[in-house]
Amino acid sequence: MDKDHPTPVEEMTDAQAKAELAQLAQSIALHDRLYHEKDQPGITDAEYDALRGRNQAIERRFPHLVRPDSPSFRVGAEPAKGFRKIRHAVPMMSLENAFSMADVAEFLAGIRNFILELRDPEAPIAVVVEPKIDGLSCSLRYEGGVLAAGTTRGNGSEGEDVTANVKTIAAIPKNLSGSGWPSVIEVRGEVYMSDADFLALNARQGAEGGKLFANPRNAAAGSLRQLDPSITEARSLGFFAYAWGETSGPFAQSQWEARRRLAEWGFTLNEPAVLLDASTGEAGALDRYYNDIQEKRSSLGFSIDGIVIKVDRLDWQDRLGFISRSPRWAVAWKFPPEQAFTVIDKIEIQIGRTGRATPVANLKPISVGGVLVSRATLHNEDEIARKDIREGDTVVVQRAGDVIPQVTGVILEKRPADSSLYAFPAQCPVCGSMLAREEGEAGTYCTGGLVCEAQAKERLKHFVSRDAFDIEGLGEKNIELFFDKGLIRTPPDIFTFEDRDRLSDQPLASWKGWKDKSASNLFDSISRARTISLDRFIYALGIPQVGEATARLLARRYLSLERWRLGMEAAALPGSDERQHLLSIEGVGESMAGDLAAFFTEPHNREVLDRLTGSRDGAAPQVSVIDFEPPAAVSPVAGKTVVFTGTLEKMSRSEAKARAEKLGANVSGSVSKKTDYVVAGADAGSKEKVARELGVAILTEKEWLELIGGAG
Ligand code: IVH
Repeated sequence: MDKDHPTPVEEMTDAQAKAELAQLAQSIALHDRLYHEKDQPGITDAEYDALRGRNQAIERRFPHLVRPDSPSFRVGAEPAKGFRKIRHAVPMMSLENAFSMADVAEFLAGIRNFILELRDPEAPIAVVVEPKIDGLSCSLRYEGGVLAAGTTRGNGSEGEDVTANVKTIAAIPKNLSGSGWPSVIEVRGEVYMSDADFLALNARQGAEGGKLFANPRNAAAGSLRQLDPSITEARSLGFFAYAWGETSGPFAQSQWEARRRLAEWGFTLNEPAVLLDASTGEAGALDRYYNDIQEKRSSLGFSIDGIVIKVDRLDWQDRLGFISRSPRWAVAWKFPPEQAFTVIDKIEIQIGRTGRATPVANLKPISVGGVLVSRATLHNEDEIARKDIREGDTVVVQRAGDVIPQVTGVILEKRPADSSLYAFPAQCPVCGSMLAREEGEAGTYCTGGLVCEAQAKERLKHFVSRDAFDIEGLGEKNIELFFDKGLIRTPPDIFTFEDRDRLSDQPLASWKGWKDKSASNLFDSISRARTISLDRFIYALGIPQVGEATARLLARRYLSLERWRLGMEAAALPGSDERQHLLSIEGVGESMAGDLAAFFTEPHNREVLDRLTGSRDGAAPQVSVIDFEPPAAVSPVAGKTVVFTGTLEKMSRSEAKARAEKLGANVSGSVSKKTDYVVAGADAGSKEKVARELGVAILTEKEWLELIGGAG
């Protein structure tokens, strides 16, 4: 095409249109990236708008040629409505990490503590051990043996529909072979790119001026999440099966047997794997496997970042179940972090959503284990002093997995002669308020509270993040942008944004880099986020110390937003009944209760809650918060508060607690008027006494098991 004299759209042939749309998609994507990700616009606004306009004009005349990756579908640099979301029938979990044999021993001790039959330290524990593949996990649903859907992990509950893409991966069977597969089975495993394919892809990308990937994992992710499946196909991805989600029936009794079945059905397994006994007498075997794999690491042909240890017996896996987002029956033993040397250009202070001031080192960019690192956390004032870290120093930087890179030490011989001790600033770099540090505390905090813009922005970013409101298209960049323009200052502003935009004389669609489509995509995703579960809602508020696990505990205990709010307001009074009730949740201590109370005494927070959920004077709610639904509400103990005391015979205390919680009961550590049952084992002491005084029902272990309808 002649740039200065483009073919008029009405005179174009199909072939010309197709070629030009491809070219436009590529160049608009490039300019989006330059603008949004690199803050380095490559062309003027007018030129950019002309490209978009031309693209739109061609698409209008040739609607059948609109590409799946058309710029019209994208908000800024992010694919917006690209993939359909699919809810996982069984959530996709992650793994707890171990970093030493001592951590692994702790993991095994936890299992012995849970499964009563394993109390004898000599009792064998069979475990399957496999390499931990560094790719991205994927769930493949087979119905009647036919591949029906492929989904990425996403946030664990909901992933992206990549069915068309996984169908192009040779290692993924389209039809299960062999026999004996359940009529419905979700096979889970890791999509990865081999080292050789990764190097070849980057060489090709480099030659064509395309994007270079930092490591095989990013390359695999970038290749799978392609709107155009033919790109996925051209990228040669692999797949290792190692787990499963929903199944219509059992198909194995052990992990080892399950592996064999998966292989029979046509899956590739991650090798080398072993079945071994992890009991104390045999502990050397795990160590040997770990060291052996670490030695073979570079010659495997694909990236691994540790080993995974799984309890072999599936009935034990079932009993062990999950704790928050990870199984109790598996652990990832990671390889030691990778290290490199570089220079600190500058030390900056970053303010978090709770006001915490974290010193961060700006580094001369350096590749650490295949990932470009330019910033590392220095944790806090004492850490800097202890290691005597200074600007201009040459330091050792390390990173492990997705953890934020750290500075582990200074190379003193390389210290510049004119270097000076680092002085922690006295004022917040953003709002100028004093930075304060409490006696005996490691953290320094900005005292600016609500006036500090850094804190406000971080709170908003947390509010829209994946595990909170999960608003796609409202990423960190856009929060900064809308905040700086004064359009979104507090969470409720997010939900009134569209209405205000409609009345604005400069609506979003007229901004640089935005179009009708991208603006409406953003408003659509905001409006989809208006319905939210209670636990996510609590988490989204960003109350100090209240992470996802605590938010779930609170949701489970209070069940509805209304009750939670009333409970928290009443619990603000130390020593009150409601405070005791809050403290009786295992995992909630005085300090956390104090933070919850403080949050609710702050008028601004109450106003935000009122505006979000409908004020008590009747204003319409902006979001609707779904009540927590106790799992298996059919159980007679669902919603009841139970205290276990004394020695149980049929199962360990941990297992009794886990089972009760699975049935929807709240397990509490102390007896109060709100306790429904006290289950008293042998030698029950003061708790049983208190229960008798308060008139709380006391059950024997046998009666309890009858009540929950389970055998031993
Ligand atoms: S088992 C219930 N086995 O590591 C969890 N995971 O860091 C089942 N991974 O999300 C996971 N290799 O994506 C398992 N051999 C392996 C694995 C493996 C890699 C990934 C997986 C998981 C992540 C956790």
